[in-house]
Amino acid sequence: MVDMTRIDKNPRSGPNAVEVRGLVKHYGSTKALDGVDLDVREGTVLGVLGPNGAGKTTLVRCLSTLIIPDAGHATVAGYDVVKQPRQLRRTIGLTGQYASVDEKLSGWENLYMIGRLLDLPRKTARSRADELLERFSLTDAARRAAMDYSGGMRRRLDLAASMIGSPAVLYLDEPTTGLDPRTRNEVWDEVQRMVAEGATVLLTTQYMEEAEQLANELTVIDKGRIIARGGVNELKAKVGGRTLQIRPSDPAQLPAMAQAIREAGLDGVSGAQAVPDEGLLYVPILSDEQLTAVIGLLGTRGFSLAHVATALPSLDEVFLAITGEKSASAAASIPEEVAA
Ligand SMILES: Nc1ncnc2c1ncn2[C@@H]1O[C@H](COP(=O)(O)OP(=O)(O)OP(=O)(O)O)[C@@H](O)[C@H]1O
Ligand SMILES: [Mg+2]
Repeated sequence: MVDMTRIDKNPRSGPNAVEVRGLVKHYGSTKALDGVDLDVREGTVLGVLGPNGAGKTTLVRCLSTLIIPDAGHATVAGYDVVKQPRQLRRTIGLTGQYASVDEKLSGWENLYMIGRLLDLPRKTARSRADELLERFSLTDAARRAAMDYSGGMRRRLDLAASMIGSPAVLYLDEPTTGLDPRTRNEVWDEVQRMVAEGATVLLTTQYMEEAEQLANELTVIDKGRIIARGGVNELKAKVGGRTLQIRPSDPAQLPAMAQAIREAGLDGVSGAQAVPDEGLLYVPILSDEQLTAVIGLLGTRGFSLAHVATALPSLDEVFLAITGEKSASAAASIPEEVAA
């Protein structure tokens, strides 16, 4: 689902909630983090994108005080990750890549217990547990043991657990890997709601689509180093943006449609390729404005369209565009429907 109305907050003004400088963490000869610098502005989402083994989880672990970096410096909400771990832990929430709920306890008991561990009074812990179960559509399953939850339910419980203390800074380590599209959308909605309420989020992901939905800014990491950063649109522009796929009602119109787009000189729209075998017209685009312009043009010229979709570049294509090398893992691009 493409949200055409999403307006980026300006990620380049305001104070930083997270500041990382020259962070290094080695495991033997593996340089999991090899001098990482990044900032996350308060109230924004930074997407950290990278293939398997890039160093994403290591970064999240350093910033949650679970491991101590070998060198460099990092602060979260003004607290030093090495010197002020206790204060820092009170300001953060973490949804790890691997589920951290207690299997034997019910969903409600898990949340209540975490609330008590965070020193919430009994009554507050109880009401937070009820409220979060409701938000994540888990009220009906509240009294069931977490071991009987489906993968998606467990992930939602995990997210709810990371939000118990209403953290100012939230780390989400690949929060939707392995989730079905509906559950993924629920998770995205909840993250957007937290950000609207003022939270700062550091999100790691292997999916361009997730980064596009949630992140104000992106950092691409590979082999412990940052290889690209910028706004979502800047990075997409580097990669070549999305491809608009248009199916006309009458395939015979494909060549005329391609010609109309090429000759119209729409701002930034450079090419259109008709593929008669597939009955599709492919148009590379960099923005929602270009998408609207192309569809608008075809409409005014009287072409009848049967189906329109866009495909995002896969993470592999991002890596190809940035480094000229294929990444270690290939995340498939997920086609998104924009109109039928
Ligand atoms: N505890 C550890 N001991 C030894 N090596 C480790 C340890 N943790 C991570 N590594 C190595 O550090 C590198 C970075 O791992 P990390 O888990 O941070 O990657 P990632 O980006 O989170 O990958 P994924 O997408 O698979 O979760 C990898 O080469 C990994 O094998
Ligand atoms: Mg990881």
